Amino acid sequence: MHRNALRRLLHARRLTVSLGAAALMAAGTATIAQTAAPAAPAASGGKLKVGFMLPYTGTYAALGTAIENGFRMYVGQQGGKLGGRDVEYFKVDDESDPAKAPENATKLIRRDQVDVVVGTVHSGVQMGIVKVAKENNTLLIIPNAGVDEATGPLCGANIFRSSFSNWQPGYAMGHVLAERGMKKVVTLTWKYAAGEQSVKGFKEAFESKGGKVIKELSLPFPNVEFQALITEVASLKPDAVFVFFAGGGAVKFVKDWQAAGLKDKIPLYGSGFLTDGTLEAQGAAAQGLETTLHYADGLTNARDKTFRLDYAKTYKLQPDVYAVQGYDAAQLLAAGANAVKGDMTRKAEVIKAMEAARVDSPRGAFTLSRAHNPVQDFYLRKVDGRENKLSSVAVKSLADPARGCRL
Ligand code: BEZ
Repeated sequence: MHRNALRRLLHARRLTVSLGAAALMAAGTATIAQTAAPAAPAASGGKLKVGFMLPYTGTYAALGTAIENGFRMYVGQQGGKLGGRDVEYFKVDDESDPAKAPENATKLIRRDQVDVVVGTVHSGVQMGIVKVAKENNTLLIIPNAGVDEATGPLCGANIFRSSFSNWQPGYAMGHVLAERGMKKVVTLTWKYAAGEQSVKGFKEAFESKGGKVIKELSLPFPNVEFQALITEVASLKPDAVFVFFAGGGAVKFVKDWQAAGLKDKIPLYGSGFLTDGTLEAQGAAAQGLETTLHYADGLTNARDKTFRLDYAKTYKLQPDVYAVQGYDAAQLLAAGANAVKGDMTRKAEVIKAMEAARVDSPRGAFTLSRAHNPVQDFYLRKVDGRENKLSSVAVKSLADPARGCRL
């Protein structure tokens, strides 16, 4: 641990101990259980504490910022309050580093005593957060990471997702390519849960309808040395390629694909992260690419129209899927917090209200599955200029199978 961070942690601990001692002297022994419980969040008084555990550096940095922007915008629209309490933010840069996840999540929960953790983007980091949130029974809202386990075998009453499971966008694209009569596809991803599980979803839909994945290629996250793999794809002469890349890596991949001369030779498809929030940097190389995702440019619902106007006004930026997921994480939390008038210690009631929420999302309204994952439409989109323009609904109301979830 960095020396300054350690000093801050120790200082916070000293503060907790001395406050605990003062409370003990003032209130007698009945206070012991409360002051001794290190992870107990603030009750109904004071501010509602939100802990952002997101990437603010590295290939996913822009994704983390967009999530935070979306979340803050919704809270700002509620006058800065949820459940009648002012919202206070705590932040940790998770660096998309799974090895640091348990320590980072513990900081928010034990040191900052947050009421809810909102995090994260990277599936590997998410596994660490889920574990710590379960150990501490802390409310967790996942605003991006698709790791199937979080709403599968590791699902929990206190674990919610406002985004997608990795299986979902992959499955939608497998369905689309099979319907188009494609037979032989090569897949290419980063070798970690997000890529591997996207391919699994793709394969499940594609092969059940007669297609065949003839080769699964990968490289370690967050490597961007794509050249050798691109050459291998070309030598396999598939009908199409399906890829999972996101953030800075997606920008580099799409440019490298065009530079290798394959853009007009082998059709390239992906889950929508390939071209979401990246089009300005990808420019001409991305034009015409088709992807599947739970958000698109050109949706016609009223919520999306106002969301996009407000986001552009607030941040001088066009929103992307990550901003939507952050906005909806705040909406989901509002459903819980409002039901208990801000008393987040009434956990069972918070959870019940969140489970029952119908989130009026810019993507289109959604509800949650029994495993707490959005049941939502997946759109087929095509890049046109700076937009992932809506082509059609690829799969309507797609629910993750939640295999292994016992909720
Ligand atoms: C993930 O690691 O789950 C992920 C990262 C970026 C975009 C989508 C998914």
